[in-house]
Amino acid sequence: MTTVATNIHWHAGVVGRQERQKLNGHRSAILWFTGLSGAGKSTLANAVEETLYQLGHRTFVLDGDNVRHGLCKDLGFSDQDRTENIRRIGEVAKLFVDGGVLALTAFISPFRSDRDTVRALMAEGDFIEIYCQCDLSVCEERDVKGLYKKARAGEIPHFTGISSPYEEPLNAEIVVNTAAQPIEVSVAQVIDALRARNVIPAL
Ligand code: ADX
Repeated sequence: MTTVATNIHWHAGVVGRQERQKLNGHRSAILWFTGLSGAGKSTLANAVEETLYQLGHRTFVLDGDNVRHGLCKDLGFSDQDRTENIRRIGEVAKLFVDGGVLALTAFISPFRSDRDTVRALMAEGDFIEIYCQCDLSVCEERDVKGLYKKARAGEIPHFTGISSPYEEPLNAEIVVNTAAQPIEVSVAQVIDALRARNVIPAL
């Protein structure tokens, strides 16, 4: 049985987010990519990161499959485990924001309440939800990892879109049609939206 720690106190450092943002020359935020498996979250997050890097911004991508090799390797895909997965990622992304970095996260994050919990951790404007909108039929057609085929065959339980729900964002800051548009167009759309929201400086 685990015992929750008591007698712990928050310690604020001398060098804070403001100082780090000043040093970096830009503000920090979470760019939260959400969507079905195969919708293109990781591809888009990595491509956006590359552009931000070229613009001189400090970034870090947290990716579903990668994080599940380490920080979250004790978790599966039950509703509770997904909630815990997103809770941990939210806390880690928040640390990156405190570190002055633009944190890009690419997780299915299927439950609206889990995404909203992370949003609520952050100050207004620090959580940018980016919905990678792609019909299930397109993701299934792509089936890059061959997982939809296995899920349809009943070999993967609780598979998002097949036997586990995906709750579309209702008020995402950015909606990207990853089913239809070329990646360059999607990257430009995200970068323009970040400029319009003053997340990164205007040209
Ligand atoms: S989340 O639901 O908890 O946000 P996460 O983004 O970390 O999911 O992991 C999703 C990735 O795990 C998928 O892209 C896929 O490669 C793999 N995966 C394995 N099993 C499942 C499953 N049952 N449902 C969805 N994705 C799965």
